[in-house]
Amino acid sequence: MSRPETFHWFARLLHWLMAAMIVSMLFIGAGMVTSVESKHTWLLAIHKPLGISIFVLALIRLGFRLTHPAPPLPDDMPLWQKLAAHASHWLFYVLMIGLPLVGWGMLSAGNFPVTLGGGLRLPPILPFDPLLYAWLREAHRYLAWLFFLTYLAHMGAALMHGLIRRDGVLQAMTGRRAQ
Ligand code: HEM
Ligand code: HEM
Repeated sequence: MSRPETFHWFARLLHWLMAAMIVSMLFIGAGMVTSVESKHTWLLAIHKPLGISIFVLALIRLGFRLTHPAPPLPDDMPLWQKLAAHASHWLFYVLMIGLPLVGWGMLSAGNFPVTLGGGLRLPPILPFDPLLYAWLREAHRYLAWLFFLTYLAHMGAALMHGLIRRDGVLQAMTGRRAQ
């Protein structure tokens, strides 16, 4: 299969839609654990369905990505930067799928309902186990931090390509090729 110049429109649509959803989720999550009572309940009611939507979209995106090649990175990019770019992209996939799964799993282990609104409720994926709940609760926190740090590095790299190197990497995701 030949390598395209830009990402497929569907990959770009999912990328920007999910970027907005994930960044919102990181802030909703952080706001949630520092709020009490009604605000906490309200944020959690958004957090659960939005997180599960990210999980479903990430599975679709992974399937699409495995069947549609990404545009090549510039030839003059140092090897370590290419490796870092690929590693961080795959780390994103692991986190986009793993973090919601840990959230779902931790609520299951704590015997809390995974409600999606409108009376919809997901079944538990783990048995009731308070120790496992405590462990997964910590894992959810640290993975969220890792997600945020990866996001900051990713955005920094994207802006470096777009504003300093001007090598077409940012345009591969915006869909507009460099002049
Ligand atoms: C990409 C998806 C997700 C992101 C980015 C995310 C992010 C976060 C963050 C940043 C926190 C605060 C962590 C802390 O400081 O302790 C948090 C807490 C939490 N998340 Fe998620 N989360 C995601 C998916 C999910 C899912 C799918 C569920 C459940 C179905 C979930 C359930 C929870 C719960 C129950 C808390 C703790 C609430 C509390 O103790 O007040 N998360 N999440
Ligand atoms: C949490 C938010 C974000 C996530 C999870 C994310 C995830 C990803 C992933 C997984 C890829 C690899 C392409 C693929 O296989 O689908 C990618 C590529 C890319 N992203 Fe993001 N992204 C986010 C936010 C951003 C932002 C804010 C920007 C711009 C400022 C950006 C710019 C790019 C660019 C330019 C590429 C193409 C890199 C290349 O050609 O190799 N991303 N992103």
